[in-house]
Amino acid sequence: MARDKIIDVVAFGQEIGKLGYDIDHGKSFFQYNPEFLESGKYSKLFPFIFKRTKPAQVFTEYQQDTFQGLPPMIADSLPDTFGNIIFQEWLTARGIQKVTPLEQLAYVADRGMGALEYRPVKELPNASSVNIDEIITILEKVLKIKEDTSGTALDELSLLNVFKIGTSAGGARPKILISEHKKTGKIIAGDREVSEDYNHYLVKLHIDDSDGYNKEKVEYAYYLLAQEAGIEMMHSKLIENKHFATLRYDRQHGEKQHVLTVTGLTGWDFKSQPENSSYENVFKVALGLEVPHKDLQQLFKRMVFNLVFRNVDDHLKNHSFIYNKESNGWNLGPAYDLTYALNPLFTFKITSRALSINGKRTSLTVKDILTIAEEFSIKNPKGIIDDVQALIPRWMEIASELAIPEKIIKTIKNEIKNIK
Ligand SMILES: Nc1ncnc2c1ncn2[C@@H]1O[C@H](COP(=O)(O)OP(=O)(O)O)[C@@H](O)[C@H]1O
Ligand SMILES: [Mg+2]
Repeated sequence: MARDKIIDVVAFGQEIGKLGYDIDHGKSFFQYNPEFLESGKYSKLFPFIFKRTKPAQVFTEYQQDTFQGLPPMIADSLPDTFGNIIFQEWLTARGIQKVTPLEQLAYVADRGMGALEYRPVKELPNASSVNIDEIITILEKVLKIKEDTSGTALDELSLLNVFKIGTSAGGARPKILISEHKKTGKIIAGDREVSEDYNHYLVKLHIDDSDGYNKEKVEYAYYLLAQEAGIEMMHSKLIENKHFATLRYDRQHGEKQHVLTVTGLTGWDFKSQPENSSYENVFKVALGLEVPHKDLQQLFKRMVFNLVFRNVDDHLKNHSFIYNKESNGWNLGPAYDLTYALNPLFTFKITSRALSINGKRTSLTVKDILTIAEEFSIKNPKGIIDDVQALIPRWMEIASELAIPEKIIKTIKNEIKNIK
């Protein structure tokens, strides 16, 4: 392997290993740094897939778009649907056609989600401060939401700013990472500081008004509902009463936290592998990671919440686990992306869930839920179902308080039902 086709994987200031990529065959290689391996430190950093052995390990099977040939834990650091649009636009503005996944990781460098970093980095200049309205104007152009009558092409610097804070997080909806100073309120780009002085937010931006309602507000209403249900989530708020901002669980206590999605942990593609997309599998990953039993109770409650409040987009990348470097153990991460994921302006006769339960994606019953509860020794499952269902009337109240349009409130209300 030529030197430029290898990069270092770093976590908590230590070189964990080297990653290679064979462009012609889409193959990747990972080799642990022998000193790291011998130290025995952070031995559960990569709990599955990588063997804890000295020789290089070859990966040929992860050819789907989600992984680009990379080991899944590393592919978790790559941009996703939204990030890729921004990435491509920025490259095009710089006259670059295409980059390899390894080069992409070099751009991710130390600004990726979680604690994994990649070196050598592609150096980029620092932006001074962040103005959300300016970012939105740029994104409107990039995403071609509004007709651009100015006739001016986007300059490289404005794109660079969006690139740096808009490509790290996954998912399809427009989002940026920002840090807000706890005392002064000053907002800076989310890739610059990790410290207790700042609140680090992932902000899902409300850009597109064409639907006549605000999806980010609906997500905020779901966050408030989930709070009442006792579902663990990061503290979230609306910015300017329209953007959904959630504190980052991968930036806590002034430190980077190592996190992986279920797709990243297992290599089960959330897009192309329905056979692996089940709640049973998420529970099995939790067991494989030896999380405490309270986390299984949490996951069960999250599942029930998603069923009752019809969040059908609860796929394998919408569940993550978080590593504790002090105990070398794993926990279920906080819930995120809990929302009414369908378009309330359309009626859907049948909606199939991203994750099956007891082999089913539609017409789920209490019996199906109790089957999974029994399989994973969940305590008081009926009580949990009752508690979540008792919150159904709160949707109308919370949504009205937030002034979500009546039509949207009613459509969603009609979808939220007791499980039979
Ligand atoms: N509070 C958070 N802290 C850290 N990472 C997050 C947080 N919320 C979401 N993420 C990460 O960002 C990704 C995209 O966020 P998500 O809310 O799922 O957006 P989308 O609606 O576009 O799918 C998630 O898959 C998850 O990996
Ligand atoms: Mg998501």
